[in-house]
Amino acid sequence: LPIFDKPMIMYPLSTLMLAGIKEILIITNLRNLELFERLLGNGHYLGININYAVQENPNGIAESFIIASEFIKGSPVALILGDNLFYGTNLVKKLEYANQTFKRNTIFAYQVNDPERYGVVTFDNNGKAIQIEEKPIKSKSKYAITGLYFYDNSILEKAKQIKPSKRGELEISAINQLYLDEQNLNVESLGRGMLWMDMGTFDSLHQASSY
Ligand code: G1P
Repeated sequence: LPIFDKPMIMYPLSTLMLAGIKEILIITNLRNLELFERLLGNGHYLGININYAVQENPNGIAESFIIASEFIKGSPVALILGDNLFYGTNLVKKLEYANQTFKRNTIFAYQVNDPERYGVVTFDNNGKAIQIEEKPIKSKSKYAITGLYFYDNSILEKAKQIKPSKRGELEISAINQLYLDEQNLNVESLGRGMLWMDMGTFDSLHQASSY
């Protein structure tokens, strides 16, 4: 899908590159695998290494860590969703920092008007994250969790530990709640001067292109 003058994948890919990440695994369904391979190849022309893996069924975002376990091995890992757009002044600093301090397990929150569409984080009065819920029917908070996650290597155990949700998916929000329960999750707010969009609807696709 084109977003203005580039295929959508180029935006999340460049976000990882801005964080300083060079070893990349693209996980896609089988139907689209060839398209991504034809577009990006081994990534060497971009100064990165790209590998590919297939998610056979839409079993949820958290399944990506199980699919990628051989690729991840003993390393920390970052995940970005292929339809997420990040833009803003301090973005590069925040990305580099998250990438250099993987032990802190960093995710990002962004204020939105339609939190029910997303994973949502609730903060207490001191601004400490206390709960993460996937698509709550009535949200207590306006802070969506964006589709960019930096985790330590315990992610592999956590991904195996969680059970499918009511919609039948291994939810990334369940993973984030596990880190939160361990008091081991840094929820970084993306404030003014930053733009975040999930381009996964017709309206947001068009909005992102115009932006
Ligand atoms: C997914 C995640 C959700 C997150 C969102 C960000 O939602 O499940 O927690 O806030 O991406 O783009 P989905 O795209 O599956 O609706």
